[in-house]
Amino acid sequence: MSVERVDTDSGAAAASNSRYVALVPAAGSGTRLGAGMPKQYQLLAGLPLIQHAVSTLAAHPQIERVYVVLAPNDSHFVSCDWGALGVKVSALYCGGDTRAASVRNGLAELSTQLSASDWVMVHDAARPCLTEADVDRLIQTLSASAVGGLLAVPVADTLKRATAEGLVLDTQSREHLWQAQTPQMFRYQRLVAALARADLATVTDEASAIEQSGFQPQLVLGSAMNLKVTYPADQTLAELILLRFN
Ligand code: C5P
Repeated sequence: MSVERVDTDSGAAAASNSRYVALVPAAGSGTRLGAGMPKQYQLLAGLPLIQHAVSTLAAHPQIERVYVVLAPNDSHFVSCDWGALGVKVSALYCGGDTRAASVRNGLAELSTQLSASDWVMVHDAARPCLTEADVDRLIQTLSASAVGGLLAVPVADTLKRATAEGLVLDTQSREHLWQAQTPQMFRYQRLVAALARADLATVTDEASAIEQSGFQPQLVLGSAMNLKVTYPADQTLAELILLRFN
C-alpha cells in the first residue's frame, strides 16, 4: 500500500471542518454494453442504474450534496424518481468528451460553492453496488489525510500481457498491484489543479491526475462487489448483488 506524502498546505488540522460532497460523472454513452440507451439509464434490479449509487451517496449522513455530471443533451435524468433524496441531488449539464473532462467541467461549476479544502468524492455512475460501509471506510481512513485516496482491491488473478493477436507475450507480477475503484476522494482545490495540469487523454481516474502532480494517494481496501458495469456480464453480476444485499 502506498505511503502518502504529507505536506503542510492543506493538512487535516487546517481542514477539520471540511465538508464532503460527491461528484458523479454520468455523461458517458456506454457503448460497450451494446444497448440503445446510455448504460446509466438501463434498468438494473428495477431502477435506472444511475439511481443506485446516487441514492447511496445522497443517503449518507456525512455527504452534504451529490452533483451528477450529465451530457449537455441528457433527457433521461429528469425522468428518474429521486424521491425524498432528491433535495440533495443536483444535475450539472456539462459533461465532456472523456470521463476526466466531465469531472473537470463538473468541478469548475462548483467553484463558488466549495472551499479549497472541502472533500470531493468522485464516484462512477456505473458502479451501482457501492454501500454505505464503503463510503464510511473511505471517510474514516482519509479524513485526516493531507492528500486523499481511493477504494481499491488487490489484484487476485495472474496477469498476462497480450499481443494484438491475443497471444501471451509475458506474465506480469501481481505483487503490489491493486485495481482502482471509485469513490476517489480528494480535496477540491488540489483535484482542480491536478486535472488542469493532467493530460486528460490518458487520465482515467482522479488518482492518476493527483499522482502526475507528485502526490501519493492512499489505497483504501474496497470490495470486489463494487464492480463497474461495462459489459453485459457485469450487469448480471451487479443485479445479483443488488437483489441479494439491498
Ligand atoms: O466508460 P466508463 O465506464 O469508464 O465510464 C465511467 C464513468 O464515467 C461512467 O459513469 C460514465 O458515465 C462517466 N463518463 C462521463 N463522461 C464521459 C465518459 C464517461 O461522465 N465522456
